[in-house]
Amino acid sequence: MKDKRQGETLTRLGMDVGTVSTVVCDADGELLFDEPSILLHQRTGGRGQRIAVGREAADLVGRLPPGMTAIRPVRRGVITDLDTARSFLRMVVRQVLPRPWQRGRAQAVVGVPAGATLLEQRALLEVLEESGIARAVAIDEPVAGALGCGIDPMDRRVHMVVDVGGGTAEVSAFCFGGVLASRSCRIGGGDMTVAVSRHVREHHHLMMGEIAAEQLAVRSGEVPDNTEIGIHGRDSDSGRPRSVTVEAGELQAALAPIVAWLVRYLAGCLDDLPAQAIDDLAADGVVLVGGASRVRGIEQALEKAFGLPVKRAENPLTCVAEGAARAATAPGVLTAYGRG
Ligand SMILES: Nc1ncnc2c1ncn2[C@@H]1O[C@H](COP(=O)(O)OP(=O)(O)OP(=O)(O)O)[C@@H](O)[C@H]1O
Ligand SMILES: [Mg+2]
Repeated sequence: MKDKRQGETLTRLGMDVGTVSTVVCDADGELLFDEPSILLHQRTGGRGQRIAVGREAADLVGRLPPGMTAIRPVRRGVITDLDTARSFLRMVVRQVLPRPWQRGRAQAVVGVPAGATLLEQRALLEVLEESGIARAVAIDEPVAGALGCGIDPMDRRVHMVVDVGGGTAEVSAFCFGGVLASRSCRIGGGDMTVAVSRHVREHHHLMMGEIAAEQLAVRSGEVPDNTEIGIHGRDSDSGRPRSVTVEAGELQAALAPIVAWLVRYLAGCLDDLPAQAIDDLAADGVVLVGGASRVRGIEQALEKAFGLPVKRAENPLTCVAEGAARAATAPGVLTAYGRG
């Protein structure tokens, strides 16, 4: 985690501030923070107070007492609420580096969606520097994801990484310090959760909470299609508590159009690649990262649409932060791929 530099101790962090979760690790790859990107805010006597972040805040989503709100500072991979992002990241950075001198000597490399605008990227870097981090640098999430899986983005061979997160899906092909082609769309696992929740409401007249819907979407992919899953919620007509039983396959069918849409969109990236690049990718395969890369069938759908072998990373949820931490010390990587 620490480098001796001209007598000073430098702390290096890799960060992935995502729509659903925020991951921070040190240069040795040790996870320092891996919790939901949620801030709990309480209004008392006309004044607002930030009281919790991460898992502690997420535990209260859907059961908040009056006066409290749970806010997500990041949507579709970028900061949408500056004030919330400021408070959220200040609390995260203080948990990870409790002493001011540690923050004053810290450098953070943070993943940003390849499709983020300059303004969106600037907002994240400025908020991080306001939180006390001495210097923050951005790097494309697929490039960081590659590093986190042991791929060298300075390699002369072309590598391709697909990242399917909670609010974004993107693909990037790169070699020797440059991006050859990329596609980024603002669709992800959150849209699959919404599709499942809408299906249950429309076909079973049952309303469910956001967290329960996400757990249901995940569970339906982990069991055989004919498995019956019990769901508890509120009847959409009477408002009374009610339970229904739904087959896993029915829920998987509800989220399938979203997977199909994003796979088709990402496959457009291949149109921009030179033939030699396809040769490299056919031999080495495409790497799949991000939490929603665990959705059932996405690997096969990508293989079919890309015509290339696809393999999921061993650490799909943490490899962007791990790779970002590695980027700080990997020779030439930040000069070639660093943004801002
Ligand atoms: N086993 C699983 N099956 C299906 N979906 C899953 C599974 N595990 C996690 N997910 C989904 O992955 C998403 C979170 O992934 P991740 O943490 O990579 O997103 P993020 O980095 O916060 O978002 P983004 O990169 O879009 O800003 C959630 O939508 C969650 O529902
Ligand atoms: Mg992500």
